[in-house]
Amino acid sequence: MKSIKTSILLVLTVLLLTPAILFAGGKKEEVKNELEIFSWWTAGGEAEGLEAMREIFEAKYPDVEFINATVAGGAGVNAKAVLKTRMQGGDPPDSFQVHAGHELIDTWVVAGKMEPITFIFKENNFLNAYPKDVIDIISYKGEIYSVPVNIHRSNVLWYNKQIFADAGITPPDSLESFFAAAEKLSGKGIIPLALAEAWTNSHLFESVLLGALGPGKYKGLWNGGTAWDDPGVIAAVEAFINILDYVNSDFSALAWEAAAQYVIDGKAAMYIMGDWAEGYFKSKGLTPGKEFGWAPSPGTAGSFLMLSDSFGLPRGAPNRENAIKWLTVCGSKEGQDAFNPKKGSIPSRTDGNKSLYDAYLKSAMDDWTSNTIVPSVMHGAAASEGWMEDYNNIITILIVEKNVDQAVKAFLKAAAKNLK
Ligand code: GAL
Repeated sequence: MKSIKTSILLVLTVLLLTPAILFAGGKKEEVKNELEIFSWWTAGGEAEGLEAMREIFEAKYPDVEFINATVAGGAGVNAKAVLKTRMQGGDPPDSFQVHAGHELIDTWVVAGKMEPITFIFKENNFLNAYPKDVIDIISYKGEIYSVPVNIHRSNVLWYNKQIFADAGITPPDSLESFFAAAEKLSGKGIIPLALAEAWTNSHLFESVLLGALGPGKYKGLWNGGTAWDDPGVIAAVEAFINILDYVNSDFSALAWEAAAQYVIDGKAAMYIMGDWAEGYFKSKGLTPGKEFGWAPSPGTAGSFLMLSDSFGLPRGAPNRENAIKWLTVCGSKEGQDAFNPKKGSIPSRTDGNKSLYDAYLKSAMDDWTSNTIVPSVMHGAAASEGWMEDYNNIITILIVEKNVDQAVKAFLKAAAKNLK
């Protein structure tokens, strides 16, 4: 009897106290139903791609408020710094854009900042929908840590078709033919190659390295199999210095999409950039194969320099359940087929509906399954962010000093430090 009385009293006390807790200090503590997605997708093409996935999410979960937290700056140069501050301060977004491979694993997973999400793959039957190699680079000690939404190609040469036709040139397939074409274009007063701010220089250099070394030796750079003073590396550094004679002089002040705009406007003839540039061209009303063409960057035919954007589940995500719902959309066929045609990337799932993709993306899908796949360093796949930063610094100095020997020595030092 006594215990029943105690229980009733307890229930009454809780009921009486609840409003006090909810309205503590006179402020109503609302239970928010939100989802904060963090990325650097602000430019034409990439922003529309994200919007398409958001629409799918909102149609499925109309009660959830979708917060699109973007920080502008290509390749995440600014977003990644903001993200690190937030994560260190215990203020993670619900889910954030992160490159599959070393960026995900070395920066976040090993540091214990992410929740394993193998269960999402199992529950949604994603395990069979992704190629094994993609699953491998998002896994650590038997658990999966992110959901890839796409595959991007880094080694693409984009060109203005009208300029090429007028100059009577075809897309250069080697460094030699690149320089011949560049000479011809310069003679006509056209900037041969568009270039932008620092990270795009590093982006260009990975393509030049691949062209000079070939896929096997390029891969070896990141696992100790190829020495950084290999003749191919020296040839790449020399070629890179020569390429700088053919780029726009205002490059260091431009965002990547502004350099892409030079090609649209006919100011520059070519651009070596990832295929998000294709998303940008299309967002400006261009049609692949009509106003612009594409080819593997010089000397890299048969190789696919890959990277993949993915989303993960940070530990302590404020809206964990909504983040899981988001990740489910990211991994779905529907989500990927809505996102990728706009983004200028191909699905990371193997069952994308090819008929939804344009001529360029169809060709990228074919190359993804038939080419030799190698990882991008600038976009997180090949090496840790620490190594990538060393690589970026070396290129920044190289552009100023143009000293081949100094650069090669610095590359050797960076490899020794980061391969430990
Ligand atoms: C890459 C990213 C792409 C695209 C690009 C330009 O790092 O993987 O999705 O956003 O940067 O910002």
